[in-house]
Amino acid sequence: MDEPDDDDGSMTGLTVTACTRCPALVDSRSRIVNGTGPEDADLLFVGEGPGAQEDGQGEPFVGRSGSVLDSALRDRGLARSDVRITNCVRCRPPDNRDPTTAELDNCRGYLDAEIELVDPEVIVTLGKVPSEHLLDRSVAITTEAGTVQEMRIGGRQRRVLLCVHPAATLYDRSQETTFEAALDEAAALAGGRSDGGGQSRLGEF
Ligand code: URA
Repeated sequence: MDEPDDDDGSMTGLTVTACTRCPALVDSRSRIVNGTGPEDADLLFVGEGPGAQEDGQGEPFVGRSGSVLDSALRDRGLARSDVRITNCVRCRPPDNRDPTTAELDNCRGYLDAEIELVDPEVIVTLGKVPSEHLLDRSVAITTEAGTVQEMRIGGRQRRVLLCVHPAATLYDRSQETTFEAALDEAAALAGGRSDGGGQSRLGEF
């Protein structure tokens, strides 16, 4: 297990308790925002990084994007408490900018440790940044959303379901269908309710 524990960062179980690896993020954060949800969740959602609301409350996806995600989960018979939700970086970038490559790399050990410990059936990437980060290639997220890719992460081969960011549905209504279709796929893979029925389809992969 690659559980980071060094001079400038430490993690206990799934919780990063201290970290000073990214000077700009140490300045901009109010707190470290760790993942939430069951430690043995079948579905792990991975976003980009905390925004202002998440920084304030210390929980991922609690702002407007979180409302979109929560309601999409509810529509499919899933509660927020049924799934694990985390981010590529755990500290809020200044002015809501994207995390830099160095910041993503600094936080990667924590994400890999979380993936290894939770050992989800499916990782759902919410948006371009987490999709490219986990797949380690450029991703055309609007066309690739809904596809399941295989990737070695956190010690073994994993299924990664690409999805557009929930916020995209707020700014561009045409993204709603893409988002909903990817969530249908996620629910079907996890055995929740979806257009594809209530049975888990994990055996197909
Ligand atoms: N967007 C993200 O990518 N992560 C959050 O936690 C909130 C919004």
